[in-house]
Amino acid sequence: MNKFVEKESDFSNMVNARLSRRGFLMGTAAAGAGAFLALNPVAKAIAGNMNNALLNFEAIPTSTSDSIVLPKGYSWNTLMSWGDPIFVNAPKFNPNGKQDSKAQALQFGDNTDGMSVFPLSNDRAILAVNNEYTNYEFLFAHQGKEMTADDVAKAQAAVGITIVEIVKKNGQWTMDSAGKANRRITANTEMEVTGPAAGHDLLKTKADPTGKKVLGTFNNCANGETPWGTYLTCEENFNDFFGSEQNAELTPDDKRYGIKAEQSDYQWHNFDDRFDVAKNPNEPNRFGWVVEIDPNDPTSTPLKRTGLGRFKHENAALVVNDDGHVVVYLGDDERGEHLYKFVSKDKYQEGNNRANRNLLEEGTLYVAKFAMKDDKLEGDGQWLELTYGKNGLTRENGFNSQAEVMIFARRAATQVGATTMDRPEWVAVHPDKKHVFCTLTNNKYRGVKEGQDVDGVNPRAENHYGQIVRWAPTNANHVSDTFQWDLYVIAGNPTVHKDSLYAGSDNINKDNMFNSPDGIGFDKAGRLWIQTDGNYSNKGDFAGQGNNQMLCGDPNTGEVRRFLTGPIGCEITGLTFSEDQKTMFVGVQHPSGHFPQGGNSKPRSTIVMITKDNGGVIGS
Ligand code: FEO
Ligand code: CA
Ligand code: CA
Ligand code: CA
Repeated sequence: MNKFVEKESDFSNMVNARLSRRGFLMGTAAAGAGAFLALNPVAKAIAGNMNNALLNFEAIPTSTSDSIVLPKGYSWNTLMSWGDPIFVNAPKFNPNGKQDSKAQALQFGDNTDGMSVFPLSNDRAILAVNNEYTNYEFLFAHQGKEMTADDVAKAQAAVGITIVEIVKKNGQWTMDSAGKANRRITANTEMEVTGPAAGHDLLKTKADPTGKKVLGTFNNCANGETPWGTYLTCEENFNDFFGSEQNAELTPDDKRYGIKAEQSDYQWHNFDDRFDVAKNPNEPNRFGWVVEIDPNDPTSTPLKRTGLGRFKHENAALVVNDDGHVVVYLGDDERGEHLYKFVSKDKYQEGNNRANRNLLEEGTLYVAKFAMKDDKLEGDGQWLELTYGKNGLTRENGFNSQAEVMIFARRAATQVGATTMDRPEWVAVHPDKKHVFCTLTNNKYRGVKEGQDVDGVNPRAENHYGQIVRWAPTNANHVSDTFQWDLYVIAGNPTVHKDSLYAGSDNINKDNMFNSPDGIGFDKAGRLWIQTDGNYSNKGDFAGQGNNQMLCGDPNTGEVRRFLTGPIGCEITGLTFSEDQKTMFVGVQHPSGHFPQGGNSKPRSTIVMITKDNGGVIGS
């Protein structure tokens, strides 16, 4: 046993002695929700807004079937699947894996992920959706074993973003392939770099000596949207697309971002030098950003916003603070990485969207540091500023400019003493604007790797289940550099683990258990929708948890109910609503059976639409 594991057991003993599973967060089972509120400072603040019961559907059991299951009174339909034509002149999807790059460029991309709806009228809207990566097993008949230049071009056209108009006909939304806004943004779409790193030497390449014109975006995981009508797409595991067969001199920063000089699974570097890190060592610095897109104008140039830092961005949860500053919360999804927030320099001006469109260009980036109070799983936190010249971000410590602080935001976060986290995935701001939630999906290195000791916010070594942290900015001011936090839910398995933190918090039981919370989002009423991207083996630590799923949480009471179970092999990721909240759009990514068409069909990542049979608001 190494010293980190020893430390964890000390911590567990301490937590178990003081709080025990039945007492530490939620009070006794018999005391129920009241005790949850009594022991939970952030929940107490939320309870001020307590309205009627939020969850008005019958919970469903887990499932291992190759389909979607919903509560009684709900139905689903597909909106679109990978390969569906999104233009009138586009070829139909052919499952033979032999369609070329030109066909894919006119079709819905692969691996649907984060998405947003931008209403145009009651019965027309724009849907912007990320296509995170692509599955060679299904993209090509040869499954990636005999790649050609056009195959690489096809893979590059299968990722990025899809923008389509959707129309409501006879009460049902459908994609309109004649929509004026329809557009594919791919790994080759021209983009402009803005903010502190724009034009920096580290962003210059042979093809772009300005360091301001980048081709494309990829590994677009989750998303955000702005009140001025733009879409934010977040570049996550961009490193997967780079490689080399030559020796490349990689820096410690390159390595921390996962850049490797070896054959990559996607093999782009074999046909496109841009992705060969020996030939183009700066190209990876041009990825790992948040990109802002105007979904209304298919000719607009997407803008990479370097002021929001470079890391493996999950989503971008934006809130307009009461004083007008725009605040964006950002997770870096990697074991032991960090949670960030950006505060705009200028203020939001209602009705002046020409000015608002520049708000994400300039501002200040912060990173979170959590402290535990009295050995409880709650406490205070601080936002540490990542500004060149402050907090040790100086020449002596290897930083020469604000551009470098942004390009190597991870190293800057370490320099200022940020808390290492259990893989921050999505962040969601409660509609009361006083509380913010972030999924910490899991972390097998917690308590194992140096620098990732167990602590209050990441309280379990070898954390296979994940948790959701919640914080309240001081005085509900998102610009404040302090906050109070607790854990909304600790996922676990109470049928496998008894009386330990691995059983989960007291709002987890055999009927609602899950692992690896990932996508989260609030509806207008304040229901917290929780999507999972976890282990679906249904065995061992995960026995009884079934396929990936979507649950719904009531932040007032702590209650969590299962709402949806997904087909075999998928993760559930991406959620948004029609403006009336009567249709919910949910992403089913990388199913591996025969979803959605069944029979012997090829599985396809798919956006599904959920409606209530009586036409009501989802969840109500
Ligand atoms: Fe693309 Fe962290 O999920
Ligand atoms: Ca995710
Ligand atoms: Ca995940
Ligand atoms: Ca994924």
